Amino acid sequence: MIDLPDFSPLRITQHPDRPGRKRFDVLDHVIAVLPRRPNQKLLSRLPKSTQVKRLLRGGQHDELRTLHLDNKRATAMTLARYDSTDAFKSLTWARKLVQHCLEHKPAKLGVLPVGLDPADRDEAVLAIAAAAQAASFELPNFKSKNARKNALATLQLLAADPRWKLSSVEAESVGNNIARWFTAMPPNVLTAKAYRECVEKLAGEYGMQSEFIDERKLEKLGAGAFLAVSQGNATRDAGILRLRYRPSGTKRPELALVGKGILFDTGGTNLKPFKSMLDMHIDMQGSAVALGTAAALAIQQVPFAFDVWLAISENRLSATAYKSQDVVTAVNGKTIQVIHTDAEGRMVLADTLSLAAREAPKLVIDYATLTGACITALTTRYSGVFSNRPDTAGLLVRNGAASGERVWSFPMAEDYDEALKSQTADIKQCAADGSGDHILAARFLNQFVPSDVAWIHMDLSAGQHKGGLAHVPSEITGFGVRYTLALLQTAADGPAGIAAAIGA
Ligand code: BES
Ligand code: ZN
Ligand code: ZN
Repeated sequence: MIDLPDFSPLRITQHPDRPGRKRFDVLDHVIAVLPRRPNQKLLSRLPKSTQVKRLLRGGQHDELRTLHLDNKRATAMTLARYDSTDAFKSLTWARKLVQHCLEHKPAKLGVLPVGLDPADRDEAVLAIAAAAQAASFELPNFKSKNARKNALATLQLLAADPRWKLSSVEAESVGNNIARWFTAMPPNVLTAKAYRECVEKLAGEYGMQSEFIDERKLEKLGAGAFLAVSQGNATRDAGILRLRYRPSGTKRPELALVGKGILFDTGGTNLKPFKSMLDMHIDMQGSAVALGTAAALAIQQVPFAFDVWLAISENRLSATAYKSQDVVTAVNGKTIQVIHTDAEGRMVLADTLSLAAREAPKLVIDYATLTGACITALTTRYSGVFSNRPDTAGLLVRNGAASGERVWSFPMAEDYDEALKSQTADIKQCAADGSGDHILAARFLNQFVPSDVAWIHMDLSAGQHKGGLAHVPSEITGFGVRYTLALLQTAADGPAGIAAAIGA
């Protein structure tokens, strides 16, 4: 059994008062958050104000300056000017600021906003809190000598507004940390069996029931698309893991979160070349994002019922692996002509989406590192979104801008299906050549979601971004958790409200 870490290692405390000398004495480092053009009177309120004023003269507004106080601890103080623009820029500013402070290896970090207007102040402090949460969490590390990178254990918010909802910042960071931690696991450690055990344990801790639909059950269900992929595995431990969150008095799920959980994607019979295969242990990130989102929702005790469906398998090259021109039948009875074994994500999702939709949730959201084409279209800065509701684009894109996890919406026009017309089966898995595979993949998945269920598909092109993205400092971003939590908050009645808003 894999040892699970503490997914929320950073303690955040709130201190409403203006800090006096004593407060600085307990901190290793304090961030003074200032407006873009702080006036001199404001700066006089800070310790070492003469030096502060000198440091801020000249220099770019985004330059970070650090000085040391005269106390016994020689507390470091970083001066950071905040220029409110948009969520992504705020979070990026916060990531760089926290990274700068962590170079000084503080265990106790303070944040002191000075002279910002309240909206800017809230945005800046909450962005720093999110960035500090992400930075303090260590991704899996197998160095034989203890190699903890940072010591950050406490974040003190000074001159804090008691109305700040830190519990949701914390829940979200648990979700993001879960998503990143599982995604970063080596594929020989995070086997299907190990992943399943971990998820079952976490589900228990967060008050969710779990059920594992193994290959034998999937055969009975007629899940030929999932099994086409899993038949190439060396062991029979692939399957679909279903979690149920049911607050008292609820029965049917209003929401289903579905994730692609390919533990390693070799490409299968149509083997990937080395460079393309190198990082393919991240191909289960969709499932980790669904799991992380579920954990965050459960921690916040949302009042609606939801299901989570994780499609867990490897995609291997083997004598039993599926091949081009195989024809398989999915759970919903549709037959699929296999074209390319590297398009395995849409195969496992076809059956998983069908099963999820059978429970008649109001809204289905799936997450998948599905296509290279989505990265070609957007780079790794944005993820792609698709929906079977035509008028969602605005809402989905606006939510990306507001949350700082940016998405772009792609067409879902019916005539794209012409590229998936098959002579031998109901549908082709993908086109043999041509462009726009992210759109064709979404059109393929659309065949497995009944039209009366509102559905959002997220192709996680921003799941991996060199140098980190927004508030997240690691290359693996866990993109999607923050986006979804923000989306669900935009409607007072949760998934039903979102479904109504997108015309379900
Ligand atoms: N997991 C990959 C997509 C991917 C590539 C995600 C790189 C993240 C980074 C997916 O299973 C895949 O291989 N898709 C193929 C589809 C094609 C064969 C139609 C692709 O994009 O090349
Ligand atoms: Zn693939
Ligand atoms: Zn894949």
